[in-house]
Amino acid sequence: MLPADFASSIRTIPNYPKPGILFRDITTLLGDARAFRRAVDELVQPWAGSKIDKVAGIEARGFILGGAVAHQLSAGFVPIRKKGKLPHQTVRMAYALEYGEDEIEMHVDAIAPGERVLLVDDLIATGGTATGAVKLLKTCGAVVEAACFIVDLPDLGGADKLRQAGVSVRTLVAFPGH
Ligand code: PRP
Ligand code: MG
Repeated sequence: MLPADFASSIRTIPNYPKPGILFRDITTLLGDARAFRRAVDELVQPWAGSKIDKVAGIEARGFILGGAVAHQLSAGFVPIRKKGKLPHQTVRMAYALEYGEDEIEMHVDAIAPGERVLLVDDLIATGGTATGAVKLLKTCGAVVEAACFIVDLPDLGGADKLRQAGVSVRTLVAFPGH
């Protein structure tokens, strides 16, 4: 099979949400049946046949991919949400934003100690969100097998930061210079 050209399925919007930012919009990939299936297949591929107990997806765009990945792996799905959205008792973790910080949450009983977890999001930039999610998962005793993303913005260093923290990282397409 030819290598997938995911970059051509992703729309770039200049100056969104702020002047000077090139926004990598995956909705065009999601809306393309072949590209969406191929992306999910490639995210899943290293884990086919191995036991992943739970896929954790990060709100909001990580839910779209994480649900599909969990289904393919016959794993459970765990939502990691922005604070204040989950109804049951939660564990909470601060994470760094470009300016300041925010918090993400997960239900306290979403993951049992020792469960093998795959973290999924659409994109890694600075890595603040994913690093916070990994910390959150580990506080519940999860074994974080890997973190996977469609898009890497390598110049922002997030994937490297996560690898330095001992997490295996898989990305499908990189946009250097973001
Ligand atoms: C975006 C993206 C990742 C995160 C990556 O989500 O979907 O989750 O930022 O950035 P980082 O690596 O610098 O932390 P965002 O919080 O903008 O919103 P959304 O997914 O809810 O649309
Ligand atoms: Mg997001």
